[in-house]
Amino acid sequence: MSDPKRFAVLGNPIDHSLSPEIHQQFAAQFGHQIDYSKQRLEGEGFSAFVRQFFASGGVGLNVTVPFKVQAHECADWHDNSALQAGAANTLSATDAGIGAWNTDGLGLVNDLINRHGFDLAHKNILIIGAGGATQGILGPMLARQPAAVAVANRTAAKATRLAQQALVEHPQCRISGLGLEALSQSGEHFDLIINSTSLGLDGGQVSLHPRLVSSAFCYDLSYGESARFAKWARATGAGMVADGLGMLVEQAALSFSIWFGDQPATDDIYQRLAERIDNDYT
Ligand code: ATR
Repeated sequence: MSDPKRFAVLGNPIDHSLSPEIHQQFAAQFGHQIDYSKQRLEGEGFSAFVRQFFASGGVGLNVTVPFKVQAHECADWHDNSALQAGAANTLSATDAGIGAWNTDGLGLVNDLINRHGFDLAHKNILIIGAGGATQGILGPMLARQPAAVAVANRTAAKATRLAQQALVEHPQCRISGLGLEALSQSGEHFDLIINSTSLGLDGGQVSLHPRLVSSAFCYDLSYGESARFAKWARATGAGMVADGLGMLVEQAALSFSIWFGDQPATDDIYQRLAERIDNDYT
C-alpha cells in the first residue's frame, strides 16, 4: 500500500483546530489514506515551512489565523478566490508550483444557502468588522447579488476603504462602509447580520442595538466558546442565530475538492461536531 498523502493546517494558536478530524472524515468517504497534522508556527518560520512541506512531497495545506496573508504571499500562483480576498486559506501542490485559494467566502455562502436555507439574493446585509475575515467573504457574498451590503467597523475609515475597494470589482452592488457609532443611529433593517470581528477570540463582546437583531438572521463567523456574538444575539431575541461551524465544514469541503477533485458530504461531520461543541442557538 502507498504512503498516505500528507496535509496539515498551519496557525497560531492551533491546538483546538477541528480541521484534521473533518478532513479524515472526508477522506474516509472516498477511501483515501491521509496524514493530516496541526502545526503551530511562529511568523518568521512560515514561508520556510511551506516551501519545505511541498518540497518534501506534501500535497496540501490549510492556513488559518494569523497566516492567511503570508500564505497568499508565498504561493507561486493564485486562484481568483485568493486574488479577490488578498489572502489564502488553502495551498496545493500543482504542476505550476504552489497554488493558493481562499475557500472561506464560498464556504460561508454554501453554509447559508444549503444548511440554513438563506439565499443572499435581494437581501439587506450588515457585516460587523472590516479586517481580513471580512475581506475574505465579501467577494463571494456580493456575487450572490444582495440588495445592499453595509460594512460597519469600530474604525470607520477601514470599513469605508473596504467598501470602496469592493465597489471597484462589483460596481453594480450597493455597498457602504460606516462606523459602529453611526450604525447605532441608523434606522435601517437588516435581513442578515454577520459578526466578522476577532472579538470572540480575545474574549471581547460585540453588541448592537436590540432593534437591529430582533428580526435578523445573526451569523457569527466564530464557533464554540468564541461565538460570543451568537450567544448575545440569542439572548437578545434575534430571529435566527448560527455560529461559524457550518462555514468551517464547508470551507474544508471546498479545500478537499481542490486537492482530490472529490466533493465530500458535509452533514454527518457537521452534526457530530455540533453536538460536541453545543452550538444550539435556536
Ligand atoms: P481578522 O483577520 O480576524 O479579520 P483583523 O484583520 O485583525 O482580524 O480584524 C479584526 C476586526 O475585528 C477588525 O474589524 C477590528 O476592528 P478595528 O478595525 O477597529 O480594529 C475588529 N475588532 C477587534 N476587536 C474589537 C473590539 N474590541 N471592538 C470592536 N471591533 C473589534
